[in-house]
Amino acid sequence: MSFTVPHSELAQLEDRVRTALRTTDGSALDVLGYGEVTLVLRLRSAAGTFACKRLPVFPDRERFERYETGLDAYLRRLADSGLDVADTELWHTTLPSGRVTAYCVQRELPPHRLCSRLLHTEDDIWAKDFFSRFLDQVDRAVEPTLGLDAQAANWVDVGGKLVYLDVTTPLMRDARGRELLDVRLFFSSLPWVLRDAVRVSMSKSIFDKFYETRGVLLDFLGNLYKERLHDLVPVFLEQANARLSRPITAEEVAAYYRDDARMWELIQRLRQADRFWHHRIRRRTYPFLLPPRVER
Ligand SMILES: Nc1ncnc2c1ncn2[C@@H]1O[C@H](COP(=O)(O)OP(=O)(O)OP(=O)(O)O)[C@@H](O)[C@H]1O
Ligand SMILES: [Mg+2]
Repeated sequence: MSFTVPHSELAQLEDRVRTALRTTDGSALDVLGYGEVTLVLRLRSAAGTFACKRLPVFPDRERFERYETGLDAYLRRLADSGLDVADTELWHTTLPSGRVTAYCVQRELPPHRLCSRLLHTEDDIWAKDFFSRFLDQVDRAVEPTLGLDAQAANWVDVGGKLVYLDVTTPLMRDARGRELLDVRLFFSSLPWVLRDAVRVSMSKSIFDKFYETRGVLLDFLGNLYKERLHDLVPVFLEQANARLSRPITAEEVAAYYRDDARMWELIQRLRQADRFWHHRIRRRTYPFLLPPRVER
């Protein structure tokens, strides 16, 4: 089931985003959520309310079409594995320069049903039941060629059904383990000093964890610290380890979180510095919307 994206309203949203980038004043934007990489904007229209995820600008039509093909394949493979994925449409507009701006658009799902929220508001019985449904989903979907970024903020519970939201970065590999994603494009929000280093030395290991159940679970558990939900770690560990051949330890989760937090902290600081350099020194528009600082 899909829906029709309101074209003219999205074009207006993109205008507002461009103004925000030029002026570095984002106050006219209605922010629905923050991820590590993107900002998700809310669009109210006669056809309903939508979550709009702005992608990095594509240098040309071909790069955009490659992304489109990859996204379609990812959505199909996730659905085939039995996962409930939020209906997602890709909207784009071509600039006079030939570059392409695009958004992944989904209907806005109820924000209070976001699982990272529910784990705060519901009781332990709900949490245990959630985690057991979650383990089923992850176990079924994840494969060496099909990855999942399964942290709690990427799922919404709609009437007892877990719906997966975070599809903007399609995680698929070929049979030789090479990323099908345009990794170079998706790292373009990194300051140039980091780009090559990260691409070459880190990308393999950054992504590895998404392609095996144990790694996905370790990432999920580590992220509970960021969500201030680490009290749930012991209970969830017991549930997870019942299914893993190599158990995860509490120390491993804590160490994983420290490393992950340090990496994002560094990336975030370098991006702020890069943006400052663009605006103040070179007097040019910085082309990305950055999330605010996160307490880690
Ligand atoms: N369809 C939706 N309805 C309601 N809220 C949403 C929806 N999609 C995203 N959000 C909110 O925005 C947040 C970030 O969205 P999402 O996970 O898709 O992007 P992201 O984490 O920035 O992705 P990436 O890190 O891969 O760039 C979610 O945690 C959620 O709070
Ligand atoms: Mg996310």
